[in-house]
Order: sequence, then structure tokens, then C-alpha cells
Amino acid sequence: MNTPSSILSAIPRRLHTQPDHPLTITRQLIESRFPGYKTHNELFPIVSVSQNFDSLGFPPDHIGRSRTDTYYLNRDTVLRTHTSAHQADTFRANESEGYLISADVYRRDAIDRSHYPVFHQMEGARTWDRRAAEQQGKTLAQVIWDDVAQIPKHDIDVEDPNPTFDAARNPLQEGHSPEETEAIAAHLKRSLEDVVVTIFNAAKQASDAGSPPGPHPADADNNEPLKVRWVEAYFPFTTPSWELEVFWQGDWLEVLGSGVVQQSILNNAGVSNRVGWAFGLGLERIAMLLYSIPDIRLFWSTDSRFLSQFSADSPIRRFAPFSKYPACFKDVSFWLKSSSSAAGGATPLPRISPFTMAAGGVAPGQGFHENDVMEVAREVCGDVVEDVRLTDEFVHPKTGRKSLCYRVNYRSLERTLTNDETNELHEKFRQQLVDRLGVELR
Ligand code: DAH
Repeated sequence: MNTPSSILSAIPRRLHTQPDHPLTITRQLIESRFPGYKTHNELFPIVSVSQNFDSLGFPPDHIGRSRTDTYYLNRDTVLRTHTSAHQADTFRANESEGYLISADVYRRDAIDRSHYPVFHQMEGARTWDRRAAEQQGKTLAQVIWDDVAQIPKHDIDVEDPNPTFDAARNPLQEGHSPEETEAIAAHLKRSLEDVVVTIFNAAKQASDAGSPPGPHPADADNNEPLKVRWVEAYFPFTTPSWELEVFWQGDWLEVLGSGVVQQSILNNAGVSNRVGWAFGLGLERIAMLLYSIPDIRLFWSTDSRFLSQFSADSPIRRFAPFSKYPACFKDVSFWLKSSSSAAGGATPLPRISPFTMAAGGVAPGQGFHENDVMEVAREVCGDVVEDVRLTDEFVHPKTGRKSLCYRVNYRSLERTLTNDETNELHEKFRQQLVDRLGVELR
């Protein structure tokens, strides 16, 4: 058990189903592009290790399984780290050809303005029945291409330089013909391009429609036509796999992961005659750019100055940040236990996006992990910590002991913190680092 009560208390919030919440509106906007897909918005976040990892083909030593990255309730039970945890069950239930699952997911991670230990994902999948195609006297590929023709057309610029599959980099599955895979990939890509066009046109309209006073990240030049690109990717549960990136305010932004569902998942779910694709995306990331929301903690706010700005019935408007309260930086330096310096000390956090858990990650260090510092900060300080950053690292030349310095940025979204208050929090934080991680303060 490594799950603090502060995390468990997020379970009943279900932000993605709260009326007029920006995550709900974002979810509904995406759902509107998948007519006929069955939506699941109430799936419970406590799942088995087998649902979250084994059923999806995660190898036993995958970084995602480690206690530094995942909240365990016991050896066999976790808070789901992604909505893919429900893929196998949803395929087994076989209630619809297409489905969308939106849900809260939980990961031990960095603290900064775009990472929060609880966030929301949407999973989507579409499968076809091979036998049904044959009964119609068509090939599976023909049936899928007929469906591709039903997807709304767009006129954006799509870069997709790689072949649909590649034996070395992005292999075709055994038992899937090249024609079938081409058709599935086309349906997946057209469907998701349509989603992206919808979202980014809405975001563009929102940011064109008047700026609230004060500097704003969305003030960058916004007149460029929308550009997207498909990038080869790897996930244990799909092949071939791709990520979709969008050129947004000067950078390529990763929006989703996707691919052709591993046939073993469908076979194990008792639907071996079905073939298809799946995708997963992070709802906060999309909502943040739709509304220009500058800090992920805001989604959890119950302040009416936040909540009253969103409405499912009116067009999407930029969020007008209420005044920014002052930040207060405080440093903490400590020596690691000598045993953990031998293991390499701090394992730097991979700055990976919310949906690339499957692709990123570093080997867990023994003894000490930066995520443990993050967790202590979150538990002691709650949402008044805006970010925590490693600012210095030093190995003593004689003893070989390692010292780290972290800078904590204290800032409330809702009020000005007093000096006494931050000092007290910081002192508690320092003490908890000693008590829980066994470090020695400098
Ligand atoms: N579950 C993945 C993650 O959180 C995202 C994802 C990638 C979902 C590819 C999918 C998929 O269904 O096909 O990292």
C-alpha cells in the first residue's frame, strides 16, 4: 500500500461527469465526433494489476508497474494508471462496435503546472467482425474502407511520412493482412484527425474571440493553418502504433497514442473474430489548450471564479485567470542515505506526457526516487505547491555521498499565502523528508 488518503479522496470527485466542468465539456466535444460509440463514464478506478498491466501485455519488469510510479492498494490491486485497464473487459462484454471510456487515472509523478497525480483520460476503440464481413460477401478491408468513407472530410495539412507498418520499427501482426492493416489504420487516422480538427478549431475560435486582460500564453500568433503529423510509436498493447502530434503555438504537441489492437487481447477476451484499433488521450491537456487554462490544479478548484466560466451551452471561451497570487520559493538540501548514493541517487523524472507511460520511463533507482519527494510535498502541502524542481546535485569527492537540492514553489491559486504559513509548511516538508525517506538535511 503506497496510496495516501489525499489521493483516495479524489475518487468521489469524478470531475469528468460534473455538469459544466471544463473536462466534461471537453469529453462531450470529443464524444460528439464518434456517433454510435458506446460511452462509459462511470468505471471504478480500483482495478487489478492484471487489468491494468497483464491483460495488456506489459512485461513483468515494465517501469509502469513500479511502486515509484503506480499507486498500489495491495499486491494485486492498483488505482488504474490509464483507461486502457478496461480494454479487455470492454472487449469481452462486446456491447458495441465502438466505445469510449472516460475516467480518472492515477500516477505518482512530478509536481508542476501540467502534472497532477490524478488526471483524466479517454480511451476509444473500434472493432470489426471478420465473419460478418464474409457473410456480406466482402473482405474485411472492403467493409472497413466503406466505413472510412463515412468519416467527415477535413482540409488540414497531415504529415504522415512513414509506411503503415515496418517489419523492424512498427510491425504488422501475425494473422493481419497488409490490406486489413491499411484499412484499420486509415479508419483510425481519419477518425482521430477529425477529432483534432474539431478541438483545435474550437480552441482557435476561443483564443481569437477576445482576450481577457493581462498577458496570456495563447497570445502567440494564432493565424497559422492547423498542421498535424503521425509519428511511429510503441505500446505493449498495439502494433503498429502511432502518436498524433499537433503544431500548436509554435511547438509540436503530442495529443494521443493509438494503434492496431494486439489480437491476443481480443482473443483472450473471447472475441477472436474481431479486429480493430484503439487510442488513448489526456483530457486535461486538451482542455488546457481549449480554454487556455494555465495550471492543472485549477481543474480541482471549487472556487466559483473558476467554475462559473464554463458552460456546456455556450461556445468555448478562453479562461480569464483571476489574479495571480505571489509565488514563494524555498529550497531544501539533503544527503541521501549512503546506501542509495551507491545505487545512483536521484532517478531523474522522465518528462513524459500523460499518455506515453508505455513508451517512456527510466529504470527505477534503488532506495530513492524523486517521485517520493513529490509525494511528500503533495501530502504535506496539498495544492499550494505549484512545482518542485531539482536545482542542484552534488557527490562528495571523498565519501561518495550524494546531496540534492530541491526548490519548492509555494503558490495558492486562490489567495495570498502568509510568510508564517509557508515557513510552517516548508518546515513540515523538511521534517517529513527525514522521517519518511531517511535523508539527512544539510
Ligand atoms: N494507455 C496509454 C497510456 O496511458 C495510451 C494509449 C496508447 C491507449 C495507445 C491506447 C492506445 O488505447 O492504443 O500511455
